[in-house]
Amino acid sequence: MEKEKVIIFDSTLRDGEQTPGSKLNMDEKLKIAKQLAKLNVDVIEAGFPISSPGELDAVKEISRQVKGPTICALARCVKEDVDAAWEAVKEAEKPRIHIFLGVSNIHMEQKLHKKPEELIEQAVQTIKYARQFTDDIEYSPEDATRAQEDYLFRVIEAAIEAGATTINIPDTVGYSVPEEFGALIRRINENVKGIENAVLSVHCHNDLGMAVSNSLSAIKNGAKQIECNVNGIGERAGNASLEEIAVALRIRQDMFAHYTDINTQEIYRTSRLVSKLTGIPIPVNKAIIGINAFAHSSGIHQDGVLKDKRTYEIIDTDLIGGKPAQMLLTARSGRHALKNELQATGYTIPEEEFEDFYERFVELADKKKGVYREDIEALVFEHLSFTEPTYKLDYLQTVSGSKSIPAAIIRLIKGDEYFEEVAIGSGPIDAAYNAINKITGINITLTSYNLSAVTGGRDALGEVTVKINHNNKDITGRGLSTDIIEASIKAYINGINKLMKMNDVKNGIHSQ
Ligand code: KIV
Ligand code: ZN
Repeated sequence: MEKEKVIIFDSTLRDGEQTPGSKLNMDEKLKIAKQLAKLNVDVIEAGFPISSPGELDAVKEISRQVKGPTICALARCVKEDVDAAWEAVKEAEKPRIHIFLGVSNIHMEQKLHKKPEELIEQAVQTIKYARQFTDDIEYSPEDATRAQEDYLFRVIEAAIEAGATTINIPDTVGYSVPEEFGALIRRINENVKGIENAVLSVHCHNDLGMAVSNSLSAIKNGAKQIECNVNGIGERAGNASLEEIAVALRIRQDMFAHYTDINTQEIYRTSRLVSKLTGIPIPVNKAIIGINAFAHSSGIHQDGVLKDKRTYEIIDTDLIGGKPAQMLLTARSGRHALKNELQATGYTIPEEEFEDFYERFVELADKKKGVYREDIEALVFEHLSFTEPTYKLDYLQTVSGSKSIPAAIIRLIKGDEYFEEVAIGSGPIDAAYNAINKITGINITLTSYNLSAVTGGRDALGEVTVKINHNNKDITGRGLSTDIIEASIKAYINGINKLMKMNDVKNGIHSQ
């Protein structure tokens, strides 16, 4: 049977970034976009340019630098949004503008306060307006699965007639179940006039945990494009997970007449990169990429796997380019072994920075029994987020206990000056952050804090990602240590150092 290609539209940088606490800066967005190109997605929805000048710049830079996939920008159904979207993607090799407008009664009446016919006219005029810039226009009738079907069909017909080339059916609130959603897609394919002139796409949210099933049901019923996100991140409970769709289509080829062009070997790396840069941890039991996805706990299972992996494993880790945690290196492994391992993980450290990196590796290996691939990746990420420090941690001491008030003494070095402060807080980390704030005098809000253990075991590295905000600027800081309080403090100082580099820290008492 001839297989049909499914277009993979990745919205990690747009809907994925709508995950609370996952704000990315331009550099982080670019890194992810470049990795998505290696993963070989067909379309990258790079952002929502009207939302902020920083977002517009980030989408612009991705359009300039990332070659291969179509680069798409989101716009509400108004001219100003379309102008911003076009401004952001016009330099892309293959630009796309994605326009959306609500179609369910609840959206039309309660959010848009307009009559259904007025909204059809608004869609038609905006699509025609966007067509003067590019002939690749995607149109999404938002909340399509809760709309009245005859109205939805009329909207789609009008959108295609006005020039939309992709029609995306969003299950905006994740309300559908697979049979129902597949049947809707089939009826659209069979009944909407002109649908053969457009690519039919789906965009499923995971509120009832059915985003992937709904998307797969849709392609069985004629959808040609799936919108999905790495690690399934996205608004509320997230979107359909890219890796689950790509691997399901590969492993169950017997059940689907479809394939994707996803380079599955890049899944593991992409997933880790997105998790590290967004600060959203991957649940241990997450299908395909969770650390337990290839781990066997019960004796019966372990025995079976030792006899023949196929007893309890349906996916080979090689397919997704990932390896289970295995002790690899020790402090005595040497530079050559470290270089080999870096090559195997696919990360590059410039030659002139290797010696520094090696020193960090030895420092870590001295503290741990063995260094795992995940530890090396964490060191690489710490290295990548390194910024020439304005402040360095010189000394820390914290107090905590069931009967004592948490307190911290922190000493930082800036140039050849030392600054020391004492503070209390709701816990030792809060106390340490308060002491650092006293030293720097910078007005900072901590918007998110995430701590994860890089591997298992009592000597595991703790990896902390913090998001801080200063004057509406979001900055990510990272810290790594076998001591989680030290990792937390390093992450906070890393964020502050990045902020200092941005040159607009006005309140810092030591920033002159
Ligand atoms: O969930 C949704 O409806 C969306 C649209 C913008 C496609 O994200
Ligand atoms: Zn969405």
